[in-house]
Amino acid sequence: MDSQRGFAALSEVVGLYGGEATPTSPGNDLDGDMRHILILGGTLEARQLAGHLAARDDLCVTLSLAGRTVAPAVQPVPVRSGGFGGVEGLAAYLMEARIDILIDATHPYAATMSAHAAQAAARAGVQLLALQRAPWRAVTGDHWQEVADSAEAVRALGESPRRVFLGIGRKEVAAFTVAPQHDYLIRTVDPIAPTLGLPRAEYLLARGPFAEADERALLSGHRIDIIVTKNSGGEATYGKIAAARTLGIAVILLRRPRLPAVPTVHTIDDALARLDHALASLTARGV
Ligand SMILES: NC(=O)c1ccc[n+]([C@@H]2O[C@H](COP(=O)([O-])OP(=O)(O)OC[C@H]3O[C@@H](n4cnc5c(N)ncnc54)[C@H](OP(=O)(O)O)[C@@H]3O)[C@@H](O)[C@H]2O)c1
Repeated sequence: MDSQRGFAALSEVVGLYGGEATPTSPGNDLDGDMRHILILGGTLEARQLAGHLAARDDLCVTLSLAGRTVAPAVQPVPVRSGGFGGVEGLAAYLMEARIDILIDATHPYAATMSAHAAQAAARAGVQLLALQRAPWRAVTGDHWQEVADSAEAVRALGESPRRVFLGIGRKEVAAFTVAPQHDYLIRTVDPIAPTLGLPRAEYLLARGPFAEADERALLSGHRIDIIVTKNSGGEATYGKIAAARTLGIAVILLRRPRLPAVPTVHTIDDALARLDHALASLTARGV
């Protein structure tokens, strides 16, 4: 590896969230003997994985964010922000920054990014590992209905007025404007602007994790009788599912999109183990 490699990656670094540059930031790999890891993030798991890797002196870790969140969470490793420009752009980035291993830790509904990651990694000859939360599974007491997308969720709400909690993200909420008969409580990380023009909608800005007791209080306080959500998996946003079960509230779940068939793990521990295995195989092959 040469020092250009470190500088190429550093040129993309737009923020060192959480304070000083760590010894493992790409710009500090001046003797070029570290492995370069790119994590595609925007999730709690990506941040947690980066936290585990930040202290390692054999790795330069960069975290990539889409750059749409107004105030992104503090991150433990250097961050680059914004789209790559499709498959070609990502493949070019992987080669220019001499990424050894790409970890796709995006949200399970970020299907475009995951598809691009699979194609770009193949094109650039870079190993790819996906870290993806396992979906929630219904248990006794859950009243779930799975739908394909937001449009089907709107139809599933029916004609009679309901009190609906929407926790599905900014991109999907617009579909509900065709059903103004309902009362909505809409929770997002960033504001919905302009607002949807629904006659009875309350907007709530909040970022998880959300405790079950707080979710119960929120849902009963607003007399919610149905929830529309993604099957995000993980613990951070499971509170509303558990609260719905206790309160006997129905849940409409948007089905997960189809993701590329790539090596996939569901936990941070498994990701760390698979990463070490991949690093060892690179070394064994003299790469
Ligand atoms: N979808 C959700 O429900 C959800 C929920 C929580 C968090 N997130 C996070 O929010 C971000 C955007 O999600 P999305 O569903 O809008 O993605 P998406 O539809 O799969 O991706 C759309 C485009 O956004 C850019 N992009 C997405 N993730 C990126 C990343 N981590 N780094 C750099 N560029 C990225 C890429 O642009 P180019 O083609 O130009 O490279 C991608 O083609 C992701 O980081 C995801 O992990 C999503």
